[in-house]
Amino acid sequence: MHFTSQTDYWNSVAKSKEFTTNLNYGLISPFIKQESNIVDYGCGYGRTLNEFHEKGFNNLTGFDYAAEMISSGKKRFPFLNLKVCQDNKMGILSDSTDLVLLFAVLTCIIDDEKQQELMDEIQRVLKPGGLIYLNDFLLNDDERNLNRYEIGFEKHGTYGVFELTEGAILRHHDPLRMKELTKNFIPVVDEKTIFKTMNGHTSKGIIFIGRKR
Ligand SMILES: C[S@@+](CC[C@H](N)C(=O)[O-])C[C@H]1O[C@@H](n2cnc3c(N)ncnc32)[C@H](O)[C@@H]1O
Repeated sequence: MHFTSQTDYWNSVAKSKEFTTNLNYGLISPFIKQESNIVDYGCGYGRTLNEFHEKGFNNLTGFDYAAEMISSGKKRFPFLNLKVCQDNKMGILSDSTDLVLLFAVLTCIIDDEKQQELMDEIQRVLKPGGLIYLNDFLLNDDERNLNRYEIGFEKHGTYGVFELTEGAILRHHDPLRMKELTKNFIPVVDEKTIFKTMNGHTSKGIIFIGRKR
């Protein structure tokens, strides 16, 4: 299926997809307090913020560019503060946030400059010493992935980009690319893992928690 914009793709799956890269609460809990101000960028239907809510956090805000995701999240978790955003901007004050979550969002942004624009916005909104907690997908070396990376490279000019027949255009990252994107954060956790994907496969992944420099 072809969508004119990726926002349309994410709107189209707002009621059908379950997202999968898990919150590892034990990794982040030593660095936050109950009153911490937590923002989830690309929050989807709000499942991760709901986990923080269940643990007693109240200062929670989610942003997503897909209005249908936000509306689905508001129905599932009416107590969450979820907002539609645009252009990788959050419209909140600089130096205002203790923790930004970024779970499986860079994978949706295939363009280097757009990825950097979002990382810069996250730097802007974090308090000095504030944290980013990022989950994302890394390059794999199995045949299914190698074939689709090759086709994606021909079409999009970036290795690791691939298209799903359902209309999503996604990116798996070279670990060096992740280093580049996180260069303005002091690493606190930097681990490789295996994540389940939203379509039931597995993929290499990264868990990164970093402090704003
Ligand atoms: C794979 S889903 C993950 C959702 C959520 N972070 C989770 O883990 O449950 C990616 C989400 O990011 C949103 N998204 C992708 N690119 C975005 C962008 N540039 N700005 C805001 N939201 C974006 C999509 O609409 C989608 O809801």
